[in-house]
Amino acid sequence: MIIAVDGPAASGKGTLAAALARHYGLPHLDTGLLYRAVGRAIEAYSDAPDFEARAIAAAGAVDTGHLDPAILSAQPYGELASRVAVIGAVRQALFDFQRQFALQPGGAVLDGRDIGTKICPEADVKLFIDADSKARMERRARQYEARGLTVNRYELYHQIEARDARDRANPNGGFFPAPDAHLLDTTRLDIEAAFRAAVALVDGAMARKAGPSGAS
Ligand code: CDP
Ligand code: CDP
Repeated sequence: MIIAVDGPAASGKGTLAAALARHYGLPHLDTGLLYRAVGRAIEAYSDAPDFEARAIAAAGAVDTGHLDPAILSAQPYGELASRVAVIGAVRQALFDFQRQFALQPGGAVLDGRDIGTKICPEADVKLFIDADSKARMERRARQYEARGLTVNRYELYHQIEARDARDRANPNGGFFPAPDAHLLDTTRLDIEAAFRAAVALVDGAMARKAGPSGAS
């Protein structure tokens, strides 16, 4: 079973994808970490002539075995990630690893922006997680505050809006729900309620796939 979980920044897609992976006993890949790792590595390629060349060199050398969320979840890496993510050659360099992860025997859960549209259009279940910008800003603010950081909510709101705008305008297709994705708006759902709603969608989709003969 392959589950694709897409959605904008701080929609809760990572938390949900991890919970679904535990529930169904599947491996999970947070694909945002790949782009964040490229953003973080860029400064090591200062010899390359410009930002794009540095990003492409960094993408070719990403160490997929050492993607540390504790380091990569820092705000500046999210910004850098969305800047490297508009470069086609960067997306290409990260494609095979994501695709192979999705197609491993037994299945997988991947979360990101383009899982249901580009990385694994044949996924068994596609979820598109959303929440309004204010709710997403508040969630991210609390995440940072839990780490002891001081948050300017006004600035954070604008950062989230700016990142959404860049992601939507990505010349490599922009990020939208796949036509066959199930939309899940979690603005008014806590983590547990969002998880229950997602499990119902996954179970329903799998039951439909199994067809009448799969029903007991
Ligand atoms: O957790 P959050 O949504 O804030 O960020 P993320 O999922 O770690 O992604 C950071 C950035 O990487 C996004 O804003 C996208 O620009 C880019 N990204 C992408 O282009 N494709 C993906 N599959 C995942 C992330
Ligand atoms: O992966 P993404 O950036 O979409 O979001 P996340 O890191 O999974 O979630 C951002 C924060 O919102 C986390 O601290 C979650 O615990 C919280 N969250 C929430 O409060 N309510 C939800 N329904 C989902 C997530």
